[in-house]
Amino acid sequence: MAVLFLAPTESPSRWAAELRKHLPELDLRVWPDIGDPHDIEEALAWHPPAGVLGTLPNLGLVAALGAGVDHLFADPAFPLEVPVVRLVDPYMTAAMSEYVQLQVLRLHRHDIDYLAQQREEVWRERPQPNAAERRVGVLGLGNLGSDAAVRLRVTGFDVAGWSRRPRKLPGIQCHHGADGLAALLARSEILVCLLPLTPETAGILDRRLFAALPRGASLVNCGRGGHLVEADLVPALDGGQLSAAVLDVFQDEPLPPGHPFWRHPRIVVTPHAAAATHAPTAAAILAENLKRRRAGRPLLNRVDPTLYY
Ligand code: GLV
Repeated sequence: MAVLFLAPTESPSRWAAELRKHLPELDLRVWPDIGDPHDIEEALAWHPPAGVLGTLPNLGLVAALGAGVDHLFADPAFPLEVPVVRLVDPYMTAAMSEYVQLQVLRLHRHDIDYLAQQREEVWRERPQPNAAERRVGVLGLGNLGSDAAVRLRVTGFDVAGWSRRPRKLPGIQCHHGADGLAALLARSEILVCLLPLTPETAGILDRRLFAALPRGASLVNCGRGGHLVEADLVPALDGGQLSAAVLDVFQDEPLPPGHPFWRHPRIVVTPHAAAATHAPTAAAILAENLKRRRAGRPLLNRVDPTLYY
């Protein structure tokens, strides 16, 4: 029984060392040196090359090395009958919530304006509402979105959230469904996107959505680049419907040289760095799922392939 490591951007030796702390006998095969494909029963994958997973006759589990699984289902030959688990790691959840707090506070406290003013040697104080008077909306109330929403609430923001299915979170106005989305947008001065990327959510951050926000609202996208219709963002910023955008994810990553987002004065770019996978904590969670599969016990964080999360 062997595990295939199919994550071309990750260091296999680092992962092997962390995984062997929990599974000392682990037979880890690093793609493309997989040996006999019949040996492979489990795969650890991150942006796997298309077509590979569909060629493994005894594959019984695909575990993603990150929170999102859109990269798996992007492969047209992905074996949909094989169980998929995504990584839900409290370490990463905390990292994402730190990022969301940082960026929401930056927007709330006019940090982009003050940095621009400093470059121009301008001394001008901006309005300073209290967090309780700032309405923040969070799109997506899964593990990441709900933790970020609750922590924003603890900081004092007036927080609402939206998810496909009804949710209940302490101190958060939870909306769902199409009507719920309109209600959330109408009140959100700062909108944070932490949705999974699915056929339903692709392109959700578009001109129409921006028009449904209060004028001058701002956006934090730390979901996926595919959520944003990139061509709609600069016109919304230049026309004043949006006042700023903080983006961690992009259609093409790395963001190509010369892309208009790099130098736009109302856009902050971070390099898909909001919440990186942390191998020491992630390895324990991945190993637990491998052990569960081998023992025939229920898997943790199993993905519903019809929902994409
Ligand atoms: C990162 O983008 C992840 O999905 O973990």
